[in-house]
Amino acid sequence: MAIEGKLAGKVALVTGSGRGIGREIALKLAREGAALVINDLDPAPAEETLAAIRALGGQAVACNGSVTEADFGDRFVKAALENFGGIDIIVNNAGYTWDNVIQKMTDEQWYAIIDVHMTAPFRILRAAADFIREAAKKEAAEGREVFRKVVNISSTSGVFGNAGQANYSAAKAGISGMTRALAKEWGRYKVNVNAVAFGLIMTRLTEAVAGAGATIDIEGREIKVGVRPEALKNAEATIPLGRGGRPEEAAGSVYLFCIPESNYVTGQTLVVAGGRP
Ligand SMILES: NC(=O)c1ccc[n+]([C@@H]2O[C@H](COP(=O)([O-])OP(=O)(O)OC[C@H]3O[C@@H](n4cnc5c(N)ncnc54)[C@H](O)[C@@H]3O)[C@@H](O)[C@H]2O)c1
Repeated sequence: MAIEGKLAGKVALVTGSGRGIGREIALKLAREGAALVINDLDPAPAEETLAAIRALGGQAVACNGSVTEADFGDRFVKAALENFGGIDIIVNNAGYTWDNVIQKMTDEQWYAIIDVHMTAPFRILRAAADFIREAAKKEAAEGREVFRKVVNISSTSGVFGNAGQANYSAAKAGISGMTRALAKEWGRYKVNVNAVAFGLIMTRLTEAVAGAGATIDIEGREIKVGVRPEALKNAEATIPLGRGGRPEEAAGSVYLFCIPESNYVTGQTLVVAGGRP
């Protein structure tokens, strides 16, 4: 039996939902009744999210692979339409950081981060445009207002800047700009387009790592992640709420933009950083 919640009957697509914040967003939306299209670069964690949703009694399918593949947007949209017959919520969450001071930042590093945080969401939203326009026109002709939701994941680095992150700060500022443009373009189709800019959220990207640190594998590239314990302690000391956020708390703020109560909110970037600018 389908889950009866605030999002019953809705179809949600969440990129990078195998781990961290994306996983918690997918689980939250599923708990509220949405059917999910999961995605991750790594199939194993995506399968775990699928299993967790099914264990809740929810519906989910996976459309794995890198969001940076040129045809990914089309595949993702197709997975939603073929399996669930619609698209109501799109969350552009997949991503990572690849930091360096500007004099050491390569073109490869620059474009990889622009591609994953900006170009991939652009292509996904472009791929969804035909369905959204047709559905909205039909609903309008029937005298119905059906709100759809786009939530783009940004960062405080995109809002305020961050040393060592020229690529990431630019990409995350870019996604906020795209959010504002699309809110204007898609208002007539009753799509709320918003962004959430997270501060410090405790995932593998930000966990305390000692010594040489940890790395993750992104499409064959070894990328450094984690924060030195001392730096993490200092960062947490500047957060009015006293600590980094939990992935489920981050997901809660995305959920606010997915529910009917936010139907008149669009084009906004909400900073979710425990009170720290
Ligand atoms: N953790 C933080 O403090 C923080 C702060 C601000 C913004 N963010 C943003 O939140 C989002 C989620 O980050 P997180 O902290 O949960 O990281 P995470 O590493 O825990 O999870 C991100 C997931 O995205 C997947 N992914 C990465 N590149 C991908 C690609 N090209 N295609 C498909 N999947 C891909 C990874 O495999 C991973 O499972 C990112 O956009 C990140 O930039 C995080």
